[in-house]
Amino acid sequence: MSILDQTEDHKNLDPMSMKSLLESFPEQIRDAADSRKNLTVSAPGNIANLIITGMGGSAIGGDLVRSATLPLLKIPLIVNRDYELPRFLSSTSLLVACSYSGNTEETLSSFQEAHRAGAFIICITSGGRLETIAKEKGVPVLPLEPGLPPRAALGQALVALLGALHSVGILPNMVGPINETVQLLSKLRNRYRALNPEIHNPAKSLARSLFGKVVAVYGSGSSMEAVAYRWRSQIAENAKNLAFHHALPEMNHNELVGWLHPEEVLRKIGVVFLRDKGDHPQVQRRFELTRELIEKKAGAVLEVWSEGESLLARIMSTVYLGDFVSLYLAYLNNSDPTPVRVIDYFKSRLSSA
Ligand code: PA5
Repeated sequence: MSILDQTEDHKNLDPMSMKSLLESFPEQIRDAADSRKNLTVSAPGNIANLIITGMGGSAIGGDLVRSATLPLLKIPLIVNRDYELPRFLSSTSLLVACSYSGNTEETLSSFQEAHRAGAFIICITSGGRLETIAKEKGVPVLPLEPGLPPRAALGQALVALLGALHSVGILPNMVGPINETVQLLSKLRNRYRALNPEIHNPAKSLARSLFGKVVAVYGSGSSMEAVAYRWRSQIAENAKNLAFHHALPEMNHNELVGWLHPEEVLRKIGVVFLRDKGDHPQVQRRFELTRELIEKKAGAVLEVWSEGESLLARIMSTVYLGDFVSLYLAYLNNSDPTPVRVIDYFKSRLSSA
């Protein structure tokens, strides 16, 4: 029997059970939405631009919210991943500082900069220094439940962001798309969960095809770029496996040229195309053509389609598949999916300098 189907062995491979966190992800979104039903944050009426600042697992929620709401936004939204904020920051900016631990130095630094500039600030965190200084300065804090790896708290962070942006008048109420997402992900869970054998489980068979390869994830710039980055990050952090990503059409103007050398390395790359029915017709054609050009060179070429109606549900359906693929790839790599020791080591070396 395949290791992916030997669910008893998963306890040894995955002692902190990333598997349970993934399998309860629809409920994480549902419970977060229930608890934020009556969220009110009073903000000034003249917000001119929006900056979501954070790093890694705490920044990706900002990218996904941006992708899912771009057609609805009337002001610019950028996701900032650095110590410093862009020069357009002013007292009419809204900064949402997201840090699961509340101790990420880049996020703390950008919080302080926004505070000095008199920007309106909202914090999303489970505690740490960010919560302490936000409370000292009277900045609203939307709390996250503690005790999770930051990347596994995505559902809570996403709902908090959508709720906050609705509350300050930047977004319409997203309850409809959130409910659709919860229902769709509950259905997909039955398909992707560990108890569903590999023969019927697309997440397991995708992981099997990608095993032993560097993974390249390509999505459209309009809807799937953030999802491609989530796949890449989850494959890196959960499976401890190198991956990269790019977006079409931009990829057709540079990276495509690189699909020539070194040939033996190209044969070790597994490509995943993330497709969405909402993509521009010319982007759809670009996917077909790109596939045709790299198919014979790559080690594997796979394609997945988003599911659902709303853009949020389509994005999150594709995120959910990628999260399961990264889990099963971790099992195949014999890697414990939860710890990210090198990130912890890096942070401790930096703070002791
Ligand atoms: O997945 C991780 O652990 C990292 O990507 C963290 O999210 C990142 O280092 C930022 O930390 P935090 O989410 O606590 O702000």
